[in-house]
Formats: sequence, structure tokens, C-alpha cells
Amino acid sequence: MAVELLSGKVFLVITGASQGIGREIAVKFSKLLKPTSTVLLLARGETGLKETAVMVSDQVSVRFQSVDLSIADAAQLSEIITKEMGSSQFERFVIVHNVGSIGDLSKFTTDMNDFNEWRKYYDLNVFSPAVLNSVVMKIVKDHGKAKAVVINITSYLGIQPMKSVGFYCSGKAAREMYFRVFAEEFPQVNVLNYSPGPVETDMLKTFSETAADPEVRTEMSDLRNQNKQLTTEQTVNRLIRVLKDQKYKSGEHIDYYDDMERPLRK
Ligand SMILES: NC(=O)c1ccc[n+]([C@@H]2O[C@H](COP(=O)([O-])OP(=O)(O)OC[C@H]3O[C@@H](n4cnc5c(N)ncnc54)[C@H](OP(=O)(O)O)[C@@H]3O)[C@@H](O)[C@H]2O)c1
Repeated sequence: MAVELLSGKVFLVITGASQGIGREIAVKFSKLLKPTSTVLLLARGETGLKETAVMVSDQVSVRFQSVDLSIADAAQLSEIITKEMGSSQFERFVIVHNVGSIGDLSKFTTDMNDFNEWRKYYDLNVFSPAVLNSVVMKIVKDHGKAKAVVINITSYLGIQPMKSVGFYCSGKAAREMYFRVFAEEFPQVNVLNYSPGPVETDMLKTFSETAADPEVRTEMSDLRNQNKQLTTEQTVNRLIRVLKDQKYKSGEHIDYYDDMERPLRK
């Protein structure tokens, strides 16, 4: 399947690519890229990054860098990316802001009273995608006529509140709004906020096992016990379809279940 938004000589950056949805994006997107393209995988775990790199299509050049995105500043991020780009010229930059953490689910909102915990959560989930996005857009600008595609992996929980999920829900809402503002400011960039649905990954497992609210815990574990969650493959196939069809307005929130029945919180 040819996807116009992934065509040409692409430099693709994926955060949180050592496992889960990020890994699947790397594997599936790489198969759609032109052989001269480069894929850069970022996360902390080197073992997971190496495993993803092995799974990426050998038609493209694959690089990975172990980095803690909650502490890497703009200068460090810029250095990582420019080093991996080398002197090559790219026609298109695609960045997938997939990194994410669920936060401490054992707390209800009134127990969330530690500034440092708030900062740590927002550093990774809100501030780091914004800073990385700024870094990548500066590189795109310096690269002349290159086009840019920005995908933020958001969540239904960024628009749907859920008890005991305060860090995650508020972080996803703030992050998505940043990308919506960015889309307004830069109409030449194709921006997608993609909500992948409940997907079987470590994050979903932690969610179903540790949410403080018993109803939420039951809802999430029932979903998994009844096998109603999605596979990483299903959601990434849908993401590719969304990119191919191009029916969204830049910055829009598109959910896996748009036009379908949602298994959770209908
Ligand atoms: N799974 C779902 O049901 C679901 C639903 C809606 C939205 N999402 C969103 O989808 C995205 C991917 O989630 P997932 O389910 O695939 O989660 P996951 O399996 O927990 O993967 C999270 C990824 O983020 C990386 N990461 C975490 N902390 C990091 C840090 N400090 N620095 C760099 N990388 C870090 C992890 O790698 P390392 O640990 O190696 O650093 C890993 O590659 C997230 O944004 C999540 O919110 C997931």
C-alpha cells in the first residue's frame, strides 16, 4: 500500500520505540518507506531498541539511540538527530510522538500533592514531546523544502475523564492541545492526533492491575479477560489507513473507534 505522507526520502523518528505500539509503528511504517529512508528509534532500553531495529524492514537504514526523554534537553535531542541524519538530504521528516507513561494510578486527584511527581510526569509526557517537536521543526526549516508530518499518539482518556487516572488524563489532554495549537500555527505541516484504542501492551496491563478505583480496575481487566483489547498490529494498520485516506483536518483527534462501537465508556 502506498501512503503519500510516507513517500519520498523520509527521515522517520519514533519515540518510545523499544516495545509496544512504538515498535509496531517502526515495523509497519518501515515497510512503506522508500529504501533510501532512515528510521531513528528512541527510548531508554537498549535491548528493546535493538530488538525493534532487527524487526524493521532491511530496505531502510535503521538507527537507535538510548535516551531518557524526560531529561534530554533541546541541545541533546538536536545532537542525536543531526548525528543520525549525517549529511543526507531528506524530502520528508516524519515524527511520531509515541512515548508515554501511565503515571501512578494508585492515587485519586486529592492525593496528587507532590510537585516533583507532577513535574516528572509532565516532563516526559507533555514537555518532552513539545521540546522534541520544536527541535525537529527547526531541523526541517534548516533543511529547505522538506515536508513535515507530525503524529502524536494521544488517547481517548485525553478527552474522557476516568477515576484514578489523573496524571494520564490531564497529561494527554495538555499534550494533545499543544499539537492542536501547533497545527493552527503551521498549516503547512500535516498534524495528526491519533488515539489508538485500548491496546495489549505493558501499559494496558499495568492499568488493569493497578488502578485505585475498583470500577475502573474491573472495567479494564474485564476488557482484557474478554479479549476486547486491540493488538498493536490492528491499531497501527488503522493508523496507516487514516494517514493514507487523509480525511482528517490537520490537528484533529482521530480515534481507532471513530464510526465503530467502542468497547469501553461508550
Ligand atoms: N496501550 C494502550 O492501551 C494505549 C491506549 C491509548 C494510548 N496509548 C499511548 O500509546 C503510546 C505507547 O503506549 P504503549 O501502550 O505502547 O506503552 P508501553 O508498552 O509502556 O511503551 C512505552 C514506550 O515509552 C518508552 N519510554 C517510557 N519512558 C521513557 C523515557 N523516560 N524516555 C524514553 N522513552 C521512554 C518505553 O521505553 P523504555 O522503557 O525502554 O524507555 C516504551 O518504548 C503512549 O503514548 C500511550 O499513552 C496507549
